[in-house]
Amino acid sequence: MTAILEATPENIQKAADRLKSGGLVALPTETVYGLGADATNDRAVASIFAAKGRPSFNPVIVHFKNKNDAAQAVEFNGQAELLASLFWPGPLTLILPRRKDANISLLCSAGLPTLAVRCPAHPVAQQLIAALGRPIAAPSANKSGSLSPTTPQHVLQSLGENAGLILAGGKAAVGLESTVLDMTGEIPVLLRPGAVTVEDLQQHIGKVAVELEAVADNPKSPGQLLKHYAPKTPLRLRAVDIKPGEALLAFGPARFMGVQGGGAAKDLPRSAHLNLSEQGDLNEAAANLFAMLHQLDSGGFKAIAVMDIPEMGLGMAINDRLRRAAVAQNQ
Ligand code: TXA
Ligand code: MG
Repeated sequence: MTAILEATPENIQKAADRLKSGGLVALPTETVYGLGADATNDRAVASIFAAKGRPSFNPVIVHFKNKNDAAQAVEFNGQAELLASLFWPGPLTLILPRRKDANISLLCSAGLPTLAVRCPAHPVAQQLIAALGRPIAAPSANKSGSLSPTTPQHVLQSLGENAGLILAGGKAAVGLESTVLDMTGEIPVLLRPGAVTVEDLQQHIGKVAVELEAVADNPKSPGQLLKHYAPKTPLRLRAVDIKPGEALLAFGPARFMGVQGGGAAKDLPRSAHLNLSEQGDLNEAAANLFAMLHQLDSGGFKAIAVMDIPEMGLGMAINDRLRRAAVAQNQ
């Protein structure tokens, strides 16, 4: 039976031992929960793909204790150094050229000459990396194509027996996967928006290209595949009212939302009406997004009507996840 264990020093050691022997451990990070393996062990990394049911061409982010350790695996350039010093540990993943002498499993790069690296800020993730003494390869701890987990319970629901052991570290503070920035070309390219916003990046390194659209074949970042973050219940975005049988995922004050045919949002049962942030705070909305989608997805609704979210700052990342989820369902 897969167990959810409190992250006591004993359990962190137990988890590190499991990783050392090639096993999998679901671990908390500040963004979402990850499904971790010893990044230097090919068999262990391979078992992540099987556990997630993930297409094997998808590369995996490798998590390091600090920038110095990451520099053993990838070649940093000046801009990457600067971003690492500003945003690590934190929700920023850098794609950099893989070093020839890197001891990281080639599977993490999935055939690319590059590697995605980040230093997570969650203390339990940091302690687990330290206890293992090696970097941890970890995609989000969910079945491929479903929502990323922001609580240990989500991991258990999505992966069940496949999760190995789950270390609990509370609700993920950011709630959205890390920003992914490809720094291998002349101009850095944002492949996935996240809590380190494009505005943050531009402020420090100037020009940043944005390439979020799905690419049909050979996508640079398979996270760009539209079918990536999909709940089972259809999503209706930028909703200005609610249809009968729908649930509402609100943002900001929702008192003027009406139900078609009569009624108001505020009269919906509590289970059918969740608010990402009544104050309209984008950070709070990001932290709640996946947990609320999970909750409404299990409510048996015809659809989830999602109110408009401003396309600025973290709103860009939230809208990115919502659009992918909605488009995936129309395919
Ligand atoms: O917040 C996060 O990043 C979480 C936590 C656990 O760290 N991890 C996560 O991993 O979201 P995953 O595998 O679900 O998403 C990683 C994204 C994928 O879209 C993957 O294709 C892309 O990063 N990626 C990884 N390595 C890459 C590479 N070398 N080149 C291009 N894209 C890469
Ligand atoms: Mg994922």
